[in-house]
Amino acid sequence: MRRSFSSLFAAAALALAGAHFAFADSPIVIKFSHVVADGTPKGRGALKFKELAEAALPGRVVVEVYPNSQLYKDKEEIEALQLGAVQMLAPSTSKFGPLGVPEFEAMDLPFILKDEAGYRAVTEGDVGKALFAKLEPKGIKGLAFWDNGFEMMSANKPLRAPDDFKGLKMRIQSSKVLDAQMRALGAIPQVMAFSEVYQALQTGVVDGTEGTPSNFLTQKYSDVQKYLTVSNHNHLAYAVIVNKSFWDGLPADIRTALEKAMKDSTDYVNGIAKSDNEDAMAKIKAGGKTQIIELTPEQKAQWIKAVAPVYAAMTARVGAAAIESVTKATGFELPK
Ligand code: LMR
Repeated sequence: MRRSFSSLFAAAALALAGAHFAFADSPIVIKFSHVVADGTPKGRGALKFKELAEAALPGRVVVEVYPNSQLYKDKEEIEALQLGAVQMLAPSTSKFGPLGVPEFEAMDLPFILKDEAGYRAVTEGDVGKALFAKLEPKGIKGLAFWDNGFEMMSANKPLRAPDDFKGLKMRIQSSKVLDAQMRALGAIPQVMAFSEVYQALQTGVVDGTEGTPSNFLTQKYSDVQKYLTVSNHNHLAYAVIVNKSFWDGLPADIRTALEKAMKDSTDYVNGIAKSDNEDAMAKIKAGGKTQIIELTPEQKAQWIKAVAPVYAAMTARVGAAAIESVTKATGFELPK
């Protein structure tokens, strides 16, 4: 069941009152809300964090994991975290623009993360730290980046050339860079919460979407999407975040143990993301309902050319410094 804004306030008030007593004797409860299935890298990571945190702090900490937008959808979950109604989330880095931190969207610039090494250089280096520092004035603390691999495009028609996108309504996450990217390809982007995508594809509210194989498989998009193009145009990363005053207010020994559990869960997720997505792709293929399209080098070059105007067009929004820090880390060359 999802909550209205007023019930969210009530939940936040209760959570704050509860926190007071929890520190006295009963265990500290960490509500970890997310929007994907348990069987994805993020879903498995959340359960791993629960396992490790509860094993390290028996009777002192309980982690409640709420997958599949059970508690909140994309936008509401960030509001709920700020209000203290939940303590931990792992939204995609493409969802921080509406919070007023558009610098995260530098990671959405097409092809900018290049490859796995480029992705790691950004998330594990100074860029990741600088992005997390921007969350603190919003009452949010960034703990880790979790990987979910490269993104693909799907529709009910084959998407091989930019022309194939013409007039297609494509669901995107709430990033202005993703919006500009879809427009550059000729599509009509529509921002939509993840939990609404399946039905929107089924009813024709949108024609296609972008995402990773693990999400495609677990959301059963094969029922409603006939073609999936291996475009690798973006990389899906999550920022594991906590309510800052909750986190800073934890007893130091508990916080240290939770930091260790988070570090180990992060290594776990980042270790399974690639193989989980490869397994998911194999299952999508074996299912036989969705045809997988590999792009030729010439087709890929056409995509790259079509999205080339996006970098300059988005500089004012994302910030030249943010873009430069990402390109420096990845070695990506902006088109002249
Ligand atoms: C999406 O909205 O497509 C993704 O961010 C969902 C997720 O959390 O993997």
